[in-house]
Amino acid sequence: MSTSSPEQPLTIALPKGRLLKRLLTHFDDRGLALSFEDRKLVAEDKERRLRGFLVKNSDLPTYVIHGIAGLGICGTDVLYESGYQFLHLMTFSFGRTRMCLAGKGSETGGSDPNRRLQVATKFTRFTQDYFHAKGIPVQIIKLDGSVELAPILGLAPYIVDLVETGETLRANNLQVIESLKEIEVHLIANVSFYKLNYHRINELTDRLRETNK
Ligand code: PRP
Repeated sequence: MSTSSPEQPLTIALPKGRLLKRLLTHFDDRGLALSFEDRKLVAEDKERRLRGFLVKNSDLPTYVIHGIAGLGICGTDVLYESGYQFLHLMTFSFGRTRMCLAGKGSETGGSDPNRRLQVATKFTRFTQDYFHAKGIPVQIIKLDGSVELAPILGLAPYIVDLVETGETLRANNLQVIESLKEIEVHLIANVSFYKLNYHRINELTDRLRETNK
């Protein structure tokens, strides 16, 4: 566990992927520039208040729960799949998406209680829990990406996936059947790390909340 004594920067895991650029700009605008140069995966700000790690989205909760990174930024979807409990410090105003059921048509076609809904998804825990709670039998096929291919190639007629602009669905002749959950981007903390560093973490959170530069 990284305890971050006053001399050591706070540690934060940041997700690689489409959110990263927006996040780094948000940090930069608030005097916390982290520059990951030459494909480096670790960077500190000039004043050494913050040390950032670039991690794969789905690995982010693992780094935070083990205290390797005391803080992390990730979506509701990733948090839900991890099953771990964290402190939620704040929600960002950007990066909102929707978890949706999608397919070739606009409906799932009939409600035969003996027929399981075949769904391809990365989000197996969420999908299982969502349809279980509604009493809808579901067969889940786990994929790790490009989930939109599943209905096109006949792997499964339906997908549960994130929809942001809807362009990927449109480009592949798929449509949203139902919007299942709003997804937001959160700043989270390892509970022990927060207890040891709460003063500095609260200052950081206030700074990240600032609406003006
Ligand atoms: C995500 C998601 C969709 C796409 C939706 O994929 O899984 O495929 O973005 O975005 P849109 O509505 O703006 O088109 P991502 O780019 O993260 O890659 P992935 O296929 O590996 O999941």
